[in-house]
Amino acid sequence: MCGIIGVLGSHQAAPIMVDALRRLEYRGYDSAGIATIHEGALDRRRAVGKLVNLSDLLVENPLAGRSGIGHTRWATHGAPNVANAHPHQSGSVAVVHNGIIENFRDLRKELGKNGVNFESDTDTETIAQLIARELKAGKAPVDAARDSIAQLEGAFALAILFDGEEDLLIAARRGSPLAVGHGDGEMYVGSDAIALAPLTDQITYLDEGDWCVLTRAGVEIFDVHNQPVTRITKQIKLDSARIEKAGHKHFMAKEIAEQPTVLANALAHYLNDDASIQLPDGLPDFSAVDRLIMVACGTAYYACQTAKYWFEQLAGLPVEIDVASEFRYREPPIGSSNVALFVSQSGETADTLAALRYCSGKASDILSVVNVPESSIARESSVALPIYAGVEVGVASTKAFTCQLAVLAILALRAAQQRGCLTDAEVAKHVDALRTVPGLVNLALGIEPSVERLANELAKARDILFLGRGAMFPLALEGALKLKEISYIHAEGYASGELKHGPIALVDEDVPVIVFAPTDPLFDKTVSNMQEVMARSGKVLLVTDATGAERAREGTWDTLVMPECDPVFAPIIYAIPAQMLAYYTALAKGTDVDQPRNLAKSVTVE
Ligand code: F6R
Repeated sequence: MCGIIGVLGSHQAAPIMVDALRRLEYRGYDSAGIATIHEGALDRRRAVGKLVNLSDLLVENPLAGRSGIGHTRWATHGAPNVANAHPHQSGSVAVVHNGIIENFRDLRKELGKNGVNFESDTDTETIAQLIARELKAGKAPVDAARDSIAQLEGAFALAILFDGEEDLLIAARRGSPLAVGHGDGEMYVGSDAIALAPLTDQITYLDEGDWCVLTRAGVEIFDVHNQPVTRITKQIKLDSARIEKAGHKHFMAKEIAEQPTVLANALAHYLNDDASIQLPDGLPDFSAVDRLIMVACGTAYYACQTAKYWFEQLAGLPVEIDVASEFRYREPPIGSSNVALFVSQSGETADTLAALRYCSGKASDILSVVNVPESSIARESSVALPIYAGVEVGVASTKAFTCQLAVLAILALRAAQQRGCLTDAEVAKHVDALRTVPGLVNLALGIEPSVERLANELAKARDILFLGRGAMFPLALEGALKLKEISYIHAEGYASGELKHGPIALVDEDVPVIVFAPTDPLFDKTVSNMQEVMARSGKVLLVTDATGAERAREGTWDTLVMPECDPVFAPIIYAIPAQMLAYYTALAKGTDVDQPRNLAKSVTVE
């Protein structure tokens, strides 16, 4: 939610910041803005909508200066208009912010009583006004910023610039991530290492509560008690080429196509040549675990729902799962023989992080499955398992989902082995099956022309239903989520057997029903549910393998034929049609696939 950038450079800052904001635009695109200092004076440009509007504005009305801050916004407080766009300025200070200042109403009231007039409806302007008040009281910029930050409650990553101070930038982090970048006589801050990738690979992540003073000579970091601290500077290897579309029309298309490669890469990190499993030290002995608690949001939650079948069926391990936003407030009892596992692509999702903190000190172990190894969730876990999907830019998660599934499957096999539910030989058989998944995903990508043709029809629908049974049920939910978030068509996922308990009333000839049904032990039952839909004029798209198509295609609207696969790992392979149907339907509708309306990639607010 919102991306921020700060630059103390030796070249013009505006183009550098616009370029960085382009890489941060996945965090929000309601408005964008930058402020710089030129010949001692602070100036800013702000534009509503996509970053391109800000670039156009800068062509007409350029902004000079080698020091600056920039922002791309996902609106929380106040409509997406110019007045609410960042940077917010009060007198000689400008601020960009990612997060929510929870006590902003009280602060605003208090400042209002002292005669401060607000220009915007945002919580962020309060920060600029607070600092301006401290400056007016005679404090130096660093003291004014420090004392103002101390008054803030809530979550924030901030970058602050001062009139007349071309070699000073103050940044702070509480709740929202912030990375400091070290250049050669230049310094940067950014919401993540991706923003800074072409500028530097030397990154220091601020810890919770840290704030820092940047000059071109370096950075001084202070902890929440204002004590100077040292934080590790790491070399972050981010291949900028992997942040480009590589010839694809959208990041989402590129990320769907990358799945055979990234899945093979993820598996290679956790599987040995002799079909044994190689996991990092520090994981619990699952034979002593009596419950696994899995928490996540959105697509990552559906990965947990799928993995629940694996942990229960393969490892006989009771699993409780919940969406993080509910889990954290229902105060579930957690025992010392429970393991808590958090799944997150970004590793920064606010609710998932809060749920993790709730479990810390209660569960025996805090595990995470993340794509960003330096993320807050990874750092606060006892063991973090990276999924090695590479940078995911498209707002709709694709390759991260399948890589999460691959890593969770391996963890379930380890648990099954330790709990005596599977012999080493049986585990090796499953490992061999898992190894075939990247190749099968590659074959599954071959359905693209059929999907494209079907999507032109699906794009005309107002509602679409997705059905699945067993581990295909979470995939039905994921298919519906993917479709609605990028095509804006209303879609629902249901367990096939649940349809007749109400939702079947929605079925008529105008509602396409997409059924995920590999030939597995539940196939005949799913097909019976599909027949119930067809008996009511439902327009069924059956997604199955050649055997399933042979047995059940009659009477369907159409069939997508998938490669034959081991039913245990079918959810990973059947994710491809779920993703592609959403992608091509969105293309047919002409929506903004990579940046769908109202959404942002990294949800760092509650
Ligand atoms: C949907 C999607 C979201 C995320 C969710 C959690 O395509 O991407 O539902 O899965 O916001 O994000 P992470 O995995 O970063 O915690």
